Amino acid sequence: MTTIALQVNRRTVELPAEPRTSLADFVRDKLDLTGTHLGCEHGVCGACTVLLDGVPARSCITYAAACEGADVTTIEGLDEDEITTELRAAFTREHALQCGYCTPGMLVSARDLVLRLPDADERRIRVGLSGNLCRCTGYVGIVRAVQSVIEARRARSIAPLADGGRTSLGPVGSGRATAGRSEPRPAQQVLAPASESTTPGSIPDFTPATVLDQRFTLPHPPTKVFAMFDDIAGIAACLPGVSLMSPPRPERVEGSIRVRLGPIAAAFEGAARVERDPATLSGRIVGIGTDQRSHSATQGEIRYRLLPLEGGAATAVELSIGYTLTGMLAQVGRPGLVRDLAKRLVAEFAANLDRHMSGAPSGLTAAAELSFWSIASDVLRARLARLLGRRSEPE
Ligand code: FES
Ligand code: FES
Repeated sequence: MTTIALQVNRRTVELPAEPRTSLADFVRDKLDLTGTHLGCEHGVCGACTVLLDGVPARSCITYAAACEGADVTTIEGLDEDEITTELRAAFTREHALQCGYCTPGMLVSARDLVLRLPDADERRIRVGLSGNLCRCTGYVGIVRAVQSVIEARRARSIAPLADGGRTSLGPVGSGRATAGRSEPRPAQQVLAPASESTTPGSIPDFTPATVLDQRFTLPHPPTKVFAMFDDIAGIAACLPGVSLMSPPRPERVEGSIRVRLGPIAAAFEGAARVERDPATLSGRIVGIGTDQRSHSATQGEIRYRLLPLEGGAATAVELSIGYTLTGMLAQVGRPGLVRDLAKRLVAEFAANLDRHMSGAPSGLTAAAELSFWSIASDVLRARLARLLGRRSEPE
C-alpha cells in the first residue's frame, strides 16, 4: 500500500492505494467521484477520461501511484467551468446524449477541442473525438454541439489556446511516476490512549485502505451513550458475529468475529485496543485479526463521536469505519455493495444498542454469525424492488 498525494478537483488528497490501483478506481472508490465512468477498462472507449494536469487522459489505464503530485480534474470538478457549461447546454440542445454513459468522458475530451481548435472543422472534431465511443447517438448531435460551442466562442473573439495548455512533450502525466516527495509526510494524528497502562506497541496504528462514514441516532442522552461505549462486553454483544475470548481491558480486548460470505466462512481472531476522550465524547477502537482457514487478515478501526440532539435528550453517533483486508475475503465485494452492507450492519448495531440500553434481555441482541450473504440478499432484494418499482410506475 502506497500513500498518494495529489490534487483532485482543486482539493488536496492524500490516501493509501495499492500500486495496481488505477486512477479511475481511485477517484470512484476512494473519493466517490462516480461521474468518471468505466467502460472497457482497456483505454479504448474513453468513458473514463479525466484531465490530468489539464490534459485529457484515460484514468482506467493510468496508475494512481503514477499521479503523485498531479492535478486531476474529473467531470465533477468542471461544474463551474465556463466551456463545460456551454458544452452541456449545447449537448442538450443538439440531443447529443441518450443513455449518457459516454457523456462525462465525451465532455472532457470536447472541452479540450473547444480550447485549442482554431475553428469548427467537422473533420478535426471527429478525429479529436475518435477516442470516445458512443453506442447510442451516432455522433451527429455530439459533433454539432461541439461545433456550435467553438463557433460561438470564436465569434466572441475568444482565441484558441495553442496546444490546449500542454506544457511538455510526451504522454499525459509523463514524469509523474518518478516525481519524488521532497518533504516527509506529517505524522498521523492519533487519539491519546485513555489508560496510562496502555501498551500501544502490541496493536499497531495503520492507515485504512477503505473508510466508510456512517451515522445513526439513539433516543438516549450523550453521556449515557458514552458510558455504554465504555462497556466493552455490552458493545461486543451488540455487534453481529462478535464474541470476547477473555475479560476485556481498554488496552487489550481479545475476541473473535465469525463471518460467512456465501461458501466462505471465516473466524477472525485478534485483539483490539480502546481509546476514549471524555472531553469531546469521542473515541477509537483499533484492532487486528487473522483467519487461518481463509488465509485472510484484517486491520480495522472504528472512530466515533457523539453529538447531542433534541436539547441533549438524544444522541447522534457519527462513525468512521476504516479497514484493510487481505487474503481470500479481500477479493469479494465491490465498494458500493460494501457500503450498503456497512449501512445495514450499522443499522443492526444501532437497533441492538438501543435495545440493550433500554434494558432488553441480552439474549435478544446480536446474531452469533455475521452473515454477509443474508444481508447482501436483503440489499439486492431492496435494489431489485426499487428498480421494478421504477419500471412499473405509470409514464
Ligand atoms: S474505461 Fe477507460 S478507456 Fe474505456
Ligand atoms: S449516449 Fe449512450 S453511450 Fe453515448
